[in-house]
Amino acid sequence: MAKKRTYLILFGAQGSGKGTQARLLQEKLSVPQVATGDLFRMHLSQGTELGKLAKSYMDRGELVPDSVTVAMVQDRLLQPDAAKGVILDGFPRNLAQAEALDQMLAKWGAGVAAAVYLLLARDELMKRITGRRTCKQCQAVYHVMFNPPQVEGVCDRCGGEVIQRADDADEAAVARRLDIYFEQTTPVIEYYRGKRLLKEIDGSLGIEQVQAVTLVAIRPKPARKAARKPRVAKKPAKKSSAKRVSAKKAPARKAVKKTVKKAVVKKSTAKRTTKKSPRK
Ligand code: AP5
Ligand code: MG
Ligand code: ZN
Repeated sequence: MAKKRTYLILFGAQGSGKGTQARLLQEKLSVPQVATGDLFRMHLSQGTELGKLAKSYMDRGELVPDSVTVAMVQDRLLQPDAAKGVILDGFPRNLAQAEALDQMLAKWGAGVAAAVYLLLARDELMKRITGRRTCKQCQAVYHVMFNPPQVEGVCDRCGGEVIQRADDADEAAVARRLDIYFEQTTPVIEYYRGKRLLKEIDGSLGIEQVQAVTLVAIRPKPARKAARKPRVAKKPAKKSSAKRVSAKKAPARKAVKKTVKKAVVKKSTAKRTTKKSPRK
């Protein structure tokens, strides 16, 4: 009894809004967020060996070794709440992880549905990272200016303490994380572009707008079937009612298309961004 599973990937540099969007999307898509950074931080707070190992890499802004990360993700995807799929936030981060994910999903008769890429300029990324605050308990994400909690230092969701992440406080480590991102994660973007699964989104929009545009970008498009119908049905009476319906719906559709057109980044811009990354 193979069930349909949804595996959505959220890409983007540090601070681009993956965590923020994943948390909103999990309610809309009814599948949980799986954030590798959150999982490492959870292990760390529980004092596990994996947490201690991860910390040594995270503090330097480097990637935790693939063998450890892939095993942790596989373990998470096998949990009962992930049976219908997940939203992957921060994984895969290099080609080896992308291939490992494909192999993992293929074993279960599944595959990646879409890879959403949130694009944002480097100076904006720095602003977002340095102003970010995170709930110690439930990992909810806030920003001192763009998205502050209602009561300073207290999480809106669980009442936990809202703090600055250790790796956000060190500017040198933040800069290093961005360098590593552009070096190692850019080839993964091309990997999913080659598979025609990449959806490029303007991450500089507001939180709600990014969410709306993302939902439209990942939605399957059934429009073609509907467009063919009037050509087949020639009866005049039906033709006039069909016209009335489409005339009513047209402005709404146009408005959505307009927002998406603005926010989904043109391929040429994206290619320019990826060319900047150093090659090994
Ligand atoms: P991880 O926790 O994944 O951190 P990251 O990749 O550095 O990404 P961030 O969490 O910093 O950014 P985000 O895109 O989630 O942005 P957010 O939504 O918070 O990884 C940490 C470390 O773990 C890594 O350095 C590595 O060592 C290790 N690791 C993780 N995954 C790994 C893997 N696969 N392999 C190996 N190692 C791995 O938003 C940022 C801020 O902006 C927030 O304050 C938010 O409120 C605000 N904001 C968000 N969206 C908007 C918006 N639209 N407008 C205004 N403000 C916004
Ligand atoms: Mg995050
Ligand atoms: Zn909380």
